[in-house]
This record gives sequence, C-alpha cells and structure tokens, in this order.
Amino acid sequence: MISLWNDARLVTLAGEQPWGLIEQGALLTRGEQLLWVGPAAEVPAELLQLVQKRHELGGAVVTPGLIDCHTHLVYGGQRANEFEMRLHGASYEDISRAGGGIRSSVTATREASEHQLYAQAAHRAQALMSEGVTTLEVKSGYGLSHVAEAKMLRVARKLSALGLDVRTTYLGAHAVPAEFLGRQDEYIEQVCQWLPQLKRDGLVDAVDAFCEGIGFTTAQTRRVFEAACALGLPVKLHAEQLSDQGGTQLACEFQALSCDHLEYLSEAGIAAMKASGTVAVLLPGAFYFLRETKLPPVQQLREAGVPMAISTDHNPGTSPTLSLLLMLNMACTLFRLTPEEALRGVTQHAAAALGLKDRGQLIAGQRADFCVWNIAHPNELAYYFGRNPLRQVVRGGHVRG
Ligand code: NIG
Ligand code: FE
Repeated sequence: MISLWNDARLVTLAGEQPWGLIEQGALLTRGEQLLWVGPAAEVPAELLQLVQKRHELGGAVVTPGLIDCHTHLVYGGQRANEFEMRLHGASYEDISRAGGGIRSSVTATREASEHQLYAQAAHRAQALMSEGVTTLEVKSGYGLSHVAEAKMLRVARKLSALGLDVRTTYLGAHAVPAEFLGRQDEYIEQVCQWLPQLKRDGLVDAVDAFCEGIGFTTAQTRRVFEAACALGLPVKLHAEQLSDQGGTQLACEFQALSCDHLEYLSEAGIAAMKASGTVAVLLPGAFYFLRETKLPPVQQLREAGVPMAISTDHNPGTSPTLSLLLMLNMACTLFRLTPEEALRGVTQHAAAALGLKDRGQLIAGQRADFCVWNIAHPNELAYYFGRNPLRQVVRGGHVRG
C-alpha cells in the first residue's frame, strides 16, 4: 500500500541544506520503505494517483526514527547503593575491584528468570520508545557464562515484539566472573568458545569488549576480535573510558563499526578511527553519572571527520537513564555538540555504528521509520530536557500504537 504523509517540515539529514531540511515536504511510503521524499508540491503525479491513504501533518517536524546504538538494557537488580558509595568518595574502579560493579549485576542477572528479565527490560524499552526510538542495540555482558549470556541475548531479541528493531551485541568480555578470578586468559578462551553457538542460535549481530584497566587488556581483546572475525561478525569496543589503553587502535585494525566512550582517546586513536571509518559513540550519560571531568576530544574528532553517534549507554552502573532526548541535550551542554550533530548522532551515525545502511535518514529506499514531533524546529529536540514532544511514530510504514 502507498501512503502519503503530507505537509511536514522534513528533517531528512540528507543533502546540502542544514539538517537536510525540506519545508512543506511530503513522504510517500510503500510497505516498509520510503518511496519518495521531497517538497509536497513536487510529488510526481503518477505516484500521487496510487496513494491509498493520506495523513495530514499540519506542518509538524518529522525526523528519522531514533536509534539507541549502545545499551545494556537487560539485567537484574539495580545499583543505587554504588551511586551512594561514589557520592561518599569511592571511585567506580574501587567498587569494581572490591567485587561490586559489573559483578554485582552479574549475580542478580544470573538469579533472575528469563521471564523476570524480560518484564524489566520491556519496561525500559517502552520508556525509550515513548521518545521515538525505533531501533535499539542491546548488549549481553551480565551473564558471563554461556547459559546466562544466551539468556540475556534471547531476552533482548524478544523485545522486538514491542514494536522496535533490536540488534544484539555479545559482550562476554565485559568482566571476569567470580569463578574465573585470577584466570583472565582462561575466561577469554571461554568467551571465544561460546561465540560460535550463540551465533548459530541467531543471537549475535556484533561483538564488543571492555578494554580497560579494570576490564581486559588489548591482547585479550584481540583474542575476542579474532574469534568474531573468524565468524564474520563485526566488532565494537568500550574504549578509553577511564584511561588510554590504545584499545581504539586495536579495534580499528579490525575495522570496528564503533568505538564507544572515548574520554581518554589519544591523537593516534583519532587517526586510526579516521582511517578505518569507525564511528565514535559518545555517551554523555555515563560521563555525567560518573562525574567524569575528562572530555572526549570532540573538536579533534570533528576536524578529522570521524562520525559521532550519541547513545544512552543505559546500564545499572554508569548510566541508568532511559531518555535518549536527554542525551541530546547533554551531548550539547557537556560535550558541545551542535543540536544538529546531536540529532545526527541518534539517527544517521547511530545507524552506521550498528552497520545498518537502511535507516537513519529520510531518503527514498530507506526504511519508513520516522517520528512526528510537536515542535517548530528540530533544534528544540536538544533544547528541552525532561520534556517529551513526541506526537507520533511511524515504523516500517505503520503508525506505532
Ligand atoms: O558502558 N564500562 C563498562 N560498561 C558499562 C558499565 C557497566 C556497569 O557498570 O554495569 C558502560 O559504562
Ligand atoms: Fe556500555
């Protein structure tokens, strides 16, 4: 069926105009795809004849559907106690080394049933969807056994029943579980051995690792990436979040889709990202919540032409936010992105961070995933914080209820 969405201020994020703006624009959708995008006055007559359904948007702003490209949405429990400990002076690393942090979420996640994990994650996904998220990435990494990682990934996949696209990333190399303490290399071997079956079960789109002093070394990360590469899976990396480990350069050797966090990224890291076309995923929620003061090198990334994505990094330890719109605001206030860069960061460049070429802009041929907003200009998306101006979401050509 062909539908017409008429009289919109289209934020296409394509072409030469700022924001790719088309005033008094129209969209034609056929099935799940955008068939035609342009000024309403120029819709080809032969297509107009075929329109079966018309939607009048009354001049509303329309953007591509939002993409949250880095989350840890599935987990048991929460860690408000650690937030309090940090306010009393403990650092994220202190808590991790004392056996809290990721490992405390691992205990709670292993104990939770698949049903319980789904109920909690669905609630979180719905909060993201209420602000216009149509594509969501979810990582494993709180199971840290074959059984528990598979459980998390299955739960993540099931979230698609809520009405959004879910991409799953295997993060077995997130932390060393208690039963492998002091045997890091052995654990990494296990992580690599679980991967082929998880992939065969259709649970893995990409592979990630936490390369950090309290995470894994570059040598261990390399092992994981080699295992991913052998199976034809793309890689991503939690890189240079708390210190400069050179993980970015390693990830770029493997043509990583993205390197994420990047507060401590070096010039060599930026050059490597530029050369490999890797997306920089910036996570202002984690920066804010850890009260980090070292800023990611945004201006240098911009000058190098490295695409920047923005995401919630939703997780119980460093970023318990469920608002991608708030991240737009924080990307501007904390990291000094422009509102347009921030929006591109949750659409066009977030799609690239997931290796998705079929979404992120309003272009004929892309998926018909878009948001209709109660605002006059797209810069308002980054301007408000704690206000949700979403009017309507269209996903795959259908209005999402
Ligand atoms: O993206 N830094 C590693 N991973 C997560 C935090 C995980 C946790 O603390 O539970 C992050 O910040
Ligand atoms: Fe993360």
